Amino acid sequence: MKPISTPDATGAYDILAPFYDRFTAHHDYDLWTGGLLNLAHRHGLSGRRALDAGCGTGKSFLPLLERGFEVTACDQSAAMLDVAASKAGRHRVALHCHDLRALGPIGEFDLITCLDDVANYLTEPEGLTAALAGLAANLRPGGLIVFDANTLSTYRGFFGETAVLEEERLMMVWRGLTDEGFGPGGLAQTSATTHGRRSTVASKTPGCAAWPSTARTRP
Ligand SMILES: C[S@@+](CC[C@H](N)C(=O)[O-])C[C@H]1O[C@@H](n2cnc3c(N)ncnc32)[C@H](O)[C@@H]1O
Repeated sequence: MKPISTPDATGAYDILAPFYDRFTAHHDYDLWTGGLLNLAHRHGLSGRRALDAGCGTGKSFLPLLERGFEVTACDQSAAMLDVAASKAGRHRVALHCHDLRALGPIGEFDLITCLDDVANYLTEPEGLTAALAGLAANLRPGGLIVFDANTLSTYRGFFGETAVLEEERLMMVWRGLTDEGFGPGGLAQTSATTHGRRSTVASKTPGCAAWPSTARTRP
């Protein structure tokens, strides 16, 4: 098998796109978003213009739409964005295909969300710095950015586990390749295999950067 490598997570998420929603079905975005918005309001959030950066299939922006935000969203994976577009329904959501490390001006937002370990894929310090600067440049003065990062516990647990997702016509095997000794700044690798295509995604713990190196192998 000849690996095809790309310097980011795009290839991996293009492959994962049809599985992503089922694979993360247990994530309660409504509850999570409610808590984050409470926190943001305590820090002075006002206004309803939101940018969901690294929006994936749209799971992280749907609760914002339901709460009356005007949503713009971006991701670097076109396949993830295709799924997101199918969910916007009656809402108008401007979707952009962009790498956060090279994000130009796309609006002036009151709130920017970057949720569910998007930041962990910005594995190089320069990439993380460039992404945060690009996001900041799209905030109105006084606007807020909300983002999360994986904990060591997640890397030692979920990123060390194997999970199989099987449906009538889809099958995916997620294989976390980290172990219990995984430490701060470590580079975690995960292999996801779907119908003979395998992608390996790397992500990193806070404090370092390194996230996506993606390799795809074909049988
Ligand atoms: C775990 S998913 C989270 C998606 C969504 N925010 C959610 O909560 O379901 C991570 C997303 O980050 C995107 N991503 C990773 N690196 C990126 C980059 N440099 N620029 C833009 N998107 C990126 C991936 O394509 C993927 O859709």
